[in-house]
Order: sequence, then C-alpha cells, then structure tokens
Amino acid sequence: HAADAHRTDLMTITRFVLNEQSKHPDSKGDFSILLNNIVLGCKFVCSAVNKAGLAKLIGLAGDTNVQGEEQKKLDVLSNEVFVKALISSGRTCILVSEEDEEATFISPPLRGKYCVVFDPLDGSSNIDCGVSIGTIFGIYLVNHLEATIDDALQPGKNMLAAGYCMYGSSCMLVLSTGNGVNGFTLDPSLGEFILTHPDIKIPKTGKIYSVNEGNAKNWDGPTAKYIENCKFPKDGSSPKSLRYVGSMVADVHRTLLYGGIFLYPADRKSPNGKLRVLYEVFPMSFLMEQAGGQAFTGKIRALDLVPKKIHERSPIFLGSYEDVEEIKALYAAAQ
Ligand code: AHG
Ligand code: MN
Ligand code: MN
Ligand code: MN
Repeated sequence: HAADAHRTDLMTITRFVLNEQSKHPDSKGDFSILLNNIVLGCKFVCSAVNKAGLAKLIGLAGDTNVQGEEQKKLDVLSNEVFVKALISSGRTCILVSEEDEEATFISPPLRGKYCVVFDPLDGSSNIDCGVSIGTIFGIYLVNHLEATIDDALQPGKNMLAAGYCMYGSSCMLVLSTGNGVNGFTLDPSLGEFILTHPDIKIPKTGKIYSVNEGNAKNWDGPTAKYIENCKFPKDGSSPKSLRYVGSMVADVHRTLLYGGIFLYPADRKSPNGKLRVLYEVFPMSFLMEQAGGQAFTGKIRALDLVPKKIHERSPIFLGSYEDVEEIKALYAAAQ
C-alpha cells in the first residue's frame, strides 16, 4: 500500500547523498565521502551527549578557547572527533573550528578539495542542564592546489552545502546541498539517519520571535522597534510568543519548522553581535534561504558578507521571509 511505502522505503542519508551525487555525473563521489564522515562525527557526538552525564563528560575541560569561553569537556571531545573524521576522509584541505584559534591545513596524501567550517558543539552553556545542543557545519570548494586562509574567507553564498545536527529528544540532521533542505532522524536501532522531513519549507511568516531579551538595554533603534512591534502590534493583531533556548541550533530548528524570526542583534557592548560568521551565521543563513526564508545582518544579505577573519562575528536576523522583511524595512528607514 502506498500509505505504508515510507515504512519500507528506508531513505537513509547515505542513500540520499548518493542519489544527489548521481545528479552530477562528473563527480567522483568525493562529496559523498566527505558528508559520510561528517555524519559519522554526528553519530559519535550524539552518543557522547546522550551519556555525558553518566560518563562524567559534563563540566569544564579546564581550558579557554580563542573566543575567551571556558571550554567544556564536550566542546573539546566533539572538536577532536570532527577534526579527525574530516582529516581521515582525505577530502579536505582546510578546517576552521570554533574551538581552534588557527585554521588546520591538510597536506598530501590526505589533502582533498573541500574547506569545512564548523562549530563542533553549539550551545555549550546548555550541556550541563541537558537542554538541546548541536553541531553546525558548512562546506566550500577549493579548486586549486595550494590552499591559503583566503580559501576559508569566502562569502557564504559560495557554500556548496551546510547543515546542523541537533542532539535533543531525538537526534536530527538537517542538510542542504543547494537543492532545498531535508531533515533526517537518527534511528538508534539501525545507527542510520532516516529521511523524516523531506523538502522543508519555512512558513512565510510566524508567530514566534527568538531573542535574548536580557540584552534589550543595549539594542539599537531598529531592533528595539521591531521587538516592540512583536510585543505591542500596531495593527491590533495578537502579540508574538517569545521562545529562546540559548542554543542556536535549537532556536533555528524550531524557527525552520514553525516559522518566525531568530535574532542575535548588535548591541552597544558587542557591535558585531555574538554569533560567528563562518560556522554559525553562514550555515544557518544558507539553510534559511534554501527553505524559502531569508537572513539579514542589519546591513546586507548575510550570505553576501565577506569575512576578513575566521572567527569574525556578525549581527544576524533570520527566519520567515515576511518577518525578516519587516526588520529590513526598519533598518532601511534608520539609514
Ligand atoms: P557556542 O556554544 O557554540 O559557543 O554557541 C553559543 C551561541 C549560540 O548557540 C546561541 O544562540 C548563543 O550563543 C546564545 O548566546 P546568549 O547566551 O548570549 O543569548
Ligand atoms: Mn563556544
Ligand atoms: Mn555556537
Ligand atoms: Mn560551539
């Protein structure tokens, strides 16, 4: 029966990626091998996160990263897992990780043609209290042999693929290779990510806004005005709901599925906001555009940003197309 087909038509992420690959006859499968190594890293981190509390994997690692944040044990462990999985894939030439001050350059024989930027563990402040956390990644092509740091400082619009894995009540991997967005749920009994959310499209507008209201004192005019309109709508419509987890992956995943807007604005203390361009802003903006939404920095389209430094930050407003239009209009009026 067609209705039950999905139960027997097990579309795993591996098969999905290979199907995508068959659309590029000239590809030699390098991309599929790279993605499968990222998937392996996600499965490992998922299992480490699930037993973190039991395996004494919570708490501080006793070190500080380039962001000036105290690294948690899981930050360090997941970073090591992804660095090793990516290098051993033999398909990468540059790695940029939130947890490593410098980029990692891979030399032959393990050098490949992709640059991977990633946040191995996003939402670290939520690890010890069991709230959803995740991994975020983006992939660029480097089509010449001697890779330099400039190959990692490409605008987000050059990304070939981006995705995140959310370690929550279920483990979900959301991926785009440039032809829309698909969601896969880990079936622990199979150890496979199964396609559960084909062709995700974000609603054109939403009833939820997601921001850390604790920064309200330092917001600029347009942001303050936008949030005011969410709480006290001028047109007499009902106020929006506030939902803020504090893990970007969880807040963005909810925005993608339910609609609405996620904001990490600039403020007087941090004029470039908090989120990092390469491995938080770009991958999530890529996914939002692929799902029919949009992403804005307060000045330009987020994917048009050209970073100068690998840990550069940017303000970000992303989510439902109409909702981001409203904030763009407020910033345009303030010019
Ligand atoms: P990370 O844990 O990778 O350093 O990222 C944390 C980020 C992001 O996950 C989240 O949206 C944001 O920090 C929350 O910041 P505030 O606690 O300042 O709201
Ligand atoms: Mn961090
Ligand atoms: Mn992060
Ligand atoms: Mn992180």
